[in-house]
Amino acid sequence: MRPTVSVTTCLLASLWAIAAATSTQGLYDLVKRRIPSHCEDFVFILDDATRANGTELFNDEYSISTSNGSIAIAGTSPSALATGLRRYFTDVAHEDIYWFIGSRLDQAASPLPRPQGTITGKSIVPFRYFFNTVTFSYTTPFWSWEDWELELDWLALHGVNLPLAWVGFEKILLDVFQSINLTTSEIIPFFSGPAFQAWNRFGNIQGSWGGELPLQWIDGQFQLQQKIVTRMLDLGMTPILPAFTGFVPRALVDVYPNATVVNGSQWEEFPTEYTNTTFLEPSDALFSELQNRVITKQIEYYGNITSYYTLDQYNENDPFSGDLSYLRNITHGTWQSLKSANPAAVWVMQGWLFTSNADFWTNERIEAYLSGVEEDEDMLILDLFSESQPQWQRTDSYHGKPWIWNQLHDYGGNMGLYGQIANVTINPIAALANSSSLVGFGLTPEGQEGNEIMYKLLLDQAWSSAPIDTASYFRNWTRTRYSTSNGTLPEELYNAWEWLRQSAYNNTQLTSNAVPKAIYELAPNITTLTGRTGHHPTTINYDPQAVLAAWQNMYAAGNAEASLWSNPAFKHDIVDITRQVLANAFLSTYTTLISDWNSTSTNTTAVRTQADTLTKLLTSLDAALSALPQFSLAPWIDSARAWAGNATNSSAIADFYEYNARNQITLWGPDGEINDYASKSWGGLVGEYYLPRWQSFLDYLVSVTPATYDASVARAGVEAVEQEFQDAGSGGVGVRTEGVREVKDVVESVVVPALSDLRVL
Ligand SMILES: *[C@@H]1O[C@H](CO)[C@@H](O)[C@H](O)[C@H]1NC(C)=O
Ligand SMILES: *[C@@H]1O[C@H](CO)[C@@H](O)[C@H](O)[C@H]1NC(C)=O
Ligand SMILES: *[C@@H]1O[C@H](CO)[C@@H](O)[C@H](O)[C@H]1NC(C)=O
Ligand SMILES: *[C@@H]1O[C@H](CO)[C@@H](O)[C@H](O)[C@H]1NC(C)=O
Ligand SMILES: *[C@@H]1O[C@H](CO)[C@@H](O)[C@H](O)[C@H]1NC(C)=O
Ligand SMILES: *[C@@H]1O[C@H](CO)[C@@H](O)[C@H](O)[C@H]1NC(C)=O
Ligand SMILES: *[C@@H]1O[C@H](CO)[C@@H](O)[C@H](O)[C@H]1NC(C)=O
Ligand SMILES: *[C@@H]1O[C@H](CO)[C@@H](O)[C@H](O)[C@H]1NC(C)=O
Ligand SMILES: *[C@@H]1O[C@H](CO)[C@@H](O)[C@H](O)[C@H]1NC(C)=O
Ligand SMILES: *[C@@H]1O[C@H](CO)[C@@H](O)[C@H](O)[C@H]1NC(C)=O
Ligand SMILES: *[C@@H]1O[C@H](CO)[C@@H](O)[C@H](O)[C@H]1NC(C)=O
Ligand SMILES: *[C@@H]1O[C@H](CO)[C@@H](O)[C@H](O)[C@H]1NC(C)=O
Repeated sequence: MRPTVSVTTCLLASLWAIAAATSTQGLYDLVKRRIPSHCEDFVFILDDATRANGTELFNDEYSISTSNGSIAIAGTSPSALATGLRRYFTDVAHEDIYWFIGSRLDQAASPLPRPQGTITGKSIVPFRYFFNTVTFSYTTPFWSWEDWELELDWLALHGVNLPLAWVGFEKILLDVFQSINLTTSEIIPFFSGPAFQAWNRFGNIQGSWGGELPLQWIDGQFQLQQKIVTRMLDLGMTPILPAFTGFVPRALVDVYPNATVVNGSQWEEFPTEYTNTTFLEPSDALFSELQNRVITKQIEYYGNITSYYTLDQYNENDPFSGDLSYLRNITHGTWQSLKSANPAAVWVMQGWLFTSNADFWTNERIEAYLSGVEEDEDMLILDLFSESQPQWQRTDSYHGKPWIWNQLHDYGGNMGLYGQIANVTINPIAALANSSSLVGFGLTPEGQEGNEIMYKLLLDQAWSSAPIDTASYFRNWTRTRYSTSNGTLPEELYNAWEWLRQSAYNNTQLTSNAVPKAIYELAPNITTLTGRTGHHPTTINYDPQAVLAAWQNMYAAGNAEASLWSNPAFKHDIVDITRQVLANAFLSTYTTLISDWNSTSTNTTAVRTQADTLTKLLTSLDAALSALPQFSLAPWIDSARAWAGNATNSSAIADFYEYNARNQITLWGPDGEINDYASKSWGGLVGEYYLPRWQSFLDYLVSVTPATYDASVARAGVEAVEQEFQDAGSGGVGVRTEGVREVKDVVESVVVPALSDLRVL
């Protein structure tokens, strides 16, 4: 499954890939992968290969027409051609490629319809960017090559031309630290587990709880990365590769006692053992030496394939000093090290620090820090959360540094219907008119979890000089998503999406500014669960009746057109909307329960009944989610275990990977340091984790009065469930097939009765 790629063949592959970046071969290969029977129908024409090969930024263009009977797509770069290819599919053939349900391009009518006249498109920004450093831990850590192939085709077809490429970086660090005489046993303890590497790469954490990172993981990920970067190049995307940040194993000072190091700050209450990461100052010559080795090693393995390097030193870590000249020195030294390793280097930085640690990052400190990079074009800043907490205005467009407007949208891979349709269409266009150094639009979700329409919307906005009309956009999305050959869909489907557009997708109250979390995913409590704002809000900023109306319309559509029940998009969406309806019902029932329990004339029977309602609701929800693998825990765990392969000791390794997978979505840390941050509404997790937590809590609650309630007793019961879950699975859960029901069956026989019981229907 993961063949060994020797350095020699990799180099050959990379050399070929460089040439391919200005060739159309990758496009033909994409067509062959996704619609093999229509390979002959397309012709791709690169308008100006020399321009696409150059370093000057330009806006892409494409045109789609019928020529000699073929569907001819011409464009300024492979990325323009891929964007044109998708435009053909969505607008002419009414099919698309999706997360979770995969490519539907092969469902297009045959023979493929020909475009009427010529369709053209022009980007309004040179860069279309994708990924957050932490997406590589929240979403992709256990992905197989097949998962990556779908993702990369999705990116290319959506016009992305500048993706992050973090996979397998530990192989580079291992080689480089070894090359300066650290031993493997001095290096490995620095690395974090498979589910936590992003924060080690940021210097937030070091080390691994529950076991050491196996060499087997490092090698396997490296082999995967070789395929990923090759495919990115084939598809006309420029990978952004990692660079040396300064974070080093503690043992570095044993080998280099004179190295200038400082201890980084503590992250999120983690014990010093796992944080306060050692940072080698860029002013030390050893820093440049390591930078050179890291960049050279990547060129040796992948070819000289990019000039873009991601490099974050202070993401949620504060600098050792706030002194302005110290800050300027840090960037100056880092920049010099990059340029001496690769004269073409551009430093890509996540601008999150200026949002998250705004107390430290005063305007004058930001200016000093950015001024160390003396050539503006040598930096590219990701304004990371532009839809809610943009920083580009207060920093005067990063003092002239090129930057990208990004929609972050999702924290921790949390699941909830959510979007800011006005903001992601109006604001990037306004920014473009007001900032001459804005060079791209992009997506920086912490986790890739649902709400796909919001992500497509911003990437499509990159090809529209006026804010997209979202009413029309949602209608077109509906038409294509549930595509039927004659183009007729029950009107209820359009109504469902219109309800969502006007409610969950139209957040404008920016105190709650990202995907909301369902409170059943939080450790049960009598306080603190409701009314949360910020990045993991539990407030619902819309009328829950609107999402219920969307659900009713979806269900009515299924009744009107029975074939929808076998349509993967419909099945996905009705389960997703069911999840939200039940989450909202849980919130309101819980609120009533707490208030009844806390009233002077507590009616024990009423409280008990509400407690039963909550647990029944979770049981119904678990059944609904379990009907689809993309809403289930099992694939997450199975894919983690699969990475253990056939290595000797593979079952112990698989257990460690599974522990990582379980720990991240629950306790997140050896002792629940950021408990429930990356919680998920997944079948299996709801039934085997959230339900027993609530059961324990509710059993206690009905047995006490507010006067006799003891939080430590309530907590002890909940904590026992949390601990038990951590390594409960050392045999592997396995994708459950037994008892898994059809979506139609579970909606009719579980969800409808549950909603009636809740009196929401
Ligand atoms: C693009 O650049 C590569 C590497 O420098 C070179 O081999 C190739 O000939 C160039 N292609 C075009 C069309 O200029
Ligand atoms: C590593 O150790 C070897 C043998 O002692 C020595 O020759 C080499 O210079 C050292 N390399 C570095 C980078 O210090
Ligand atoms: C480290 O610094 C000390 C004191 O300045 C010096 O005597 C020593 O030679 C240095 N060692 C190395 C390995 O550079
Ligand atoms: C870890 O960082 C915190 C600041 O965030 C600091 O107070 C503490 O002293 C540091 N500990 C060590 C061992 O460096
Ligand atoms: C900044 O770097 C210069 C040159 O390396 C050095 O002389 C100066 O002490 C540094 N300043 C601070 C505050 O680190
Ligand atoms: C890599 O390519 C850049 C131009 O993009 C060039 O400046 C640099 O010298 C190359 N590095 C190597 C090692 O070939
Ligand atoms: C988008 O969010 C920003 C930042 O919170 C806010 O200033 C702006 O008014 C919002 N725009 C729209 C159209 O909602
Ligand atoms: C929706 O599709 C119609 C017909 O193809 C097209 O004219 C319209 O521009 C599309 N709307 C958007 C927002 O793309
Ligand atoms: C369109 O196709 C669907 C099945 O895909 C069918 O139920 C419907 O009746 C058809 N409508 C027309 C107008 O032919
Ligand atoms: C979104 O909300 C704003 C503010 O409440 C409102 O003005 C606007 O009409 C709403 N848009 C839609 C599509 O519902
Ligand atoms: C219970 O009611 C009292 C008195 O109104 C209030 O102070 C307290 O916060 C309430 N507790 C809960 C858990 O709602
Ligand atoms: C509920 O939250 C409060 C405040 O964070 C905490 O002190 C208490 O221990 C929690 N109770 C339970 C049962 O976890």
